[in-house]
Amino acid sequence: MPYKILKKVSLGNSGTLFEMDILAPLIAKKAYAGNFILMRINETGERIPLTIADYDRVKGVITLVIQVVGKSTLLLSHQNEGDEILDVVGPLGNKIHIEKYEHPIIIIGGGVGIAPCYPQAKELTQAGNKIISILGARTKDLIFWRERMADVSEKVIICTNDGSEGIEGFVTEPLRNIISKDKISLAIAIGPMIMMKNVAKLTSGIEELPRVKTFVSLNTIMIDGTGMCGGCRFPAKDGQIHFACVEGPDVDGHIVNFDILLNREKRFAEFEKKSYDIYKRECKNLKIG
Ligand SMILES: Cc1cc2nc3c(=O)[nH]c(=O)nc-3n(C[C@H](O)[C@H](O)[C@H](O)COP(=O)(O)OP(=O)(O)OC[C@H]3O[C@@H](n4cnc5c(N)ncnc54)[C@H](O)[C@@H]3O)c2cc1C
Ligand code: FES
Repeated sequence: MPYKILKKVSLGNSGTLFEMDILAPLIAKKAYAGNFILMRINETGERIPLTIADYDRVKGVITLVIQVVGKSTLLLSHQNEGDEILDVVGPLGNKIHIEKYEHPIIIIGGGVGIAPCYPQAKELTQAGNKIISILGARTKDLIFWRERMADVSEKVIICTNDGSEGIEGFVTEPLRNIISKDKISLAIAIGPMIMMKNVAKLTSGIEELPRVKTFVSLNTIMIDGTGMCGGCRFPAKDGQIHFACVEGPDVDGHIVNFDILLNREKRFAEFEKKSYDIYKRECKNLKIG
């Protein structure tokens, strides 16, 4: 059954980020923070995982936020309101654990990772928690959902690498500041692998800072999303192998061996570039995008 695109809007000013509402009543009915979908745009399309950034059970709508990074996300950016996506499978992955914690929770979103922070902040706030959100990106044009995040946070701190908005520097700077002074029950980091690695390192109990339980959302390569292909496997520091799709995507950041994972994620780079270049050439000939 095809899935209709109800809304598509650009986010930020980079031209590479957009939000899409898709009519998917059965998925919306069962969606929770932490879940994702796998989508195949057309018959020849690859399967790409995307987080359910919001859901409306009454209208039967799921919201996705997409950053264009390669062929499939570029192809998706060329779809418009009224167009249909061939397959959408979900909700996949585990919903996050919700409880009322004693102290505030810090939620750190980097780049497109800000979107999956929103449902987590929303559901944790509804459970009575105090949320401090730290949103980071290379530059202000890549920051989005400031108001949405403010609605579900007690405080929002913005960081940009180039200082064009908020604090100049990485998200780890305000994080270090807060955990060195205040009691924090939990940290959640969603964004580029290198950001999650550095957050997990900072909260692991180094340099006289307290250890803070930390979840990271692993955006490893996923194909089936049900534990069968092994594409998403990641090594833990004790040598054990885990599967991000069925054990995560949110996992204990202190067990992940990020160095091995960062290398594994580059394994298809040559093919990804080739496929992107061919599609861009086809777009030029057909005048798409
Ligand atoms: C659980 C999960 C949730 C995600 N949520 C979002 C989201 O909400 N918004 C968003 O923009 N992106 C999200 N991603 C990443 C997104 O799936 C990739 O950016 C997308 O698959 C890239 O496809 P591409 O053809 O455009 O780029 P490609 O050129 O194929 O790849 C570019 C880079 O994207 C990553 N990638 C490629 N294929 C996959 C794949 N099958 N699975 C995972 N990563 C891949 C790799 O790091 C790769 O180097 C998520 C990934 C996971 C695992
Ligand atoms: S995506 Fe195939 S095992 Fe996880």
